[in-house]
Amino acid sequence: MQKLEVFGANKLKGEIIISGSKNASLPILAATLLSDKKVYLNNLPKVKDIETMINLLQSLGSKTKFNKNKLIINNFKQNKKFASYSLVKTMRAGILVLGPLLAKFGSAKVSLPGGCAIGTRPVDIHLKALSKLGVKYKIIQGYVHAQAPKGLIGSKIRFPKISVGATENLIIAACFAKGTTILNNCAIEPEIKDLVNFLIKMGCDLKWTAKRSIKIIGVNKVNDTIYSVMFDRIEAGTYLVAAAVTEGNLKIKNVLPNIIKTEINTLKKIGARIKIKKNEIHIIGNKKIKSINIKTAPYPGFPTDLQAQIMVLLCKANKKSLIKEDIFENRFMHVAELNRMGAQISTNGNKALVEGKINFAAAELMATDLRASVSLILAALTAKGKSVINRIYHLDRGYENIEKKLKKVGAKIRRIN
Ligand code: UD1
Repeated sequence: MQKLEVFGANKLKGEIIISGSKNASLPILAATLLSDKKVYLNNLPKVKDIETMINLLQSLGSKTKFNKNKLIINNFKQNKKFASYSLVKTMRAGILVLGPLLAKFGSAKVSLPGGCAIGTRPVDIHLKALSKLGVKYKIIQGYVHAQAPKGLIGSKIRFPKISVGATENLIIAACFAKGTTILNNCAIEPEIKDLVNFLIKMGCDLKWTAKRSIKIIGVNKVNDTIYSVMFDRIEAGTYLVAAAVTEGNLKIKNVLPNIIKTEINTLKKIGARIKIKKNEIHIIGNKKIKSINIKTAPYPGFPTDLQAQIMVLLCKANKKSLIKEDIFENRFMHVAELNRMGAQISTNGNKALVEGKINFAAAELMATDLRASVSLILAALTAKGKSVINRIYHLDRGYENIEKKLKKVGAKIRRIN
């Protein structure tokens, strides 16, 4: 199993180019199933989750060619509607093929994704909302057997809770439903806006009508499409924290700063110096880091996917900080490992009290999930000596060329087989 060795502590300096967004690419890839034509996607990140989604599409009959962040999908003969456990279990976004398969074929059998390290993560909201479009489903031996005997029928749906995945599944499905669908209380993460832009480019009829409402008028065919996926805002946020925590000086390129205002403002409050250009953020880390209380929330709130990383930075603050995790029930897996490096973080339910003024000590560590893994790298970058991070397959699910990017700005990091 591969590991990462990190030798701290040096200040990062230089430029980092941000890759395409994993979490925008995944629903867009699922949405390509609506097409029976060619789709050309640019700026896809080369990470494991994207590979898994492409394998899933292939298993459903799509022909694909992936080269240098560009993917060509040919769906002339895409005709299968069975998504197996072996592919969906490693990546929860596999459930996103349910909506498009039902929209296209009127039936599908898709494995339930199950829980994961950060929580139970059910898909009840996806299923209940799909049933309002006329879908009948049964869960048999871990699979959703779903049918829409009369095809999908447009409806007015209010999500009981904001869910990124359920919003995406329903948006995609409703594109082929008969008549009009109105979805209320939608998640409005930038990745969802990107999915909607992609669907419009394919020829679907969607319009945001209020902050969290979208109107979708069903169509029955789509066009050949070329689309470039948005930048990865979580990757960008991670490298901004890397600069802040190492007192570094980084130019983060290929981003739209407007989309990550919450993160930028949070880092400014903590004490980083930040200058913004059209597609670039220049950040200089400050020796003095101020404590702050953070609460994760749906967009435009502070992202749960950046909670572990900001916690590392707050370990260095002048005073105690409080982090409240309001999206997932079990997203503090990184705390035990950070405490092994000398952090003093105590958790109580969904709250973590983070003591400041910590100097991390190098250690041998275990990655537990994608964002937890990267938080360990951030802490290791500040710790004098050698840290070893095990189980980095989690990291490879979502960070493209992370060692290469960090090495280029002065980190001492290497992968060991
Ligand atoms: C997506 C992101 C993930 C991010 C999360 C929240 C992708 C591939 N993943 O995950 O990186 O951390 O949004 O921003 O884009 N829930 C239910 N029932 C459901 C669906 C969700 O109870 O049917 C709960 C979840 O357990 C969680 C909360 O709702 O507590 C939010 O989950 P959701 O927004 O759906 O996250 P994902 O789409 O799984």
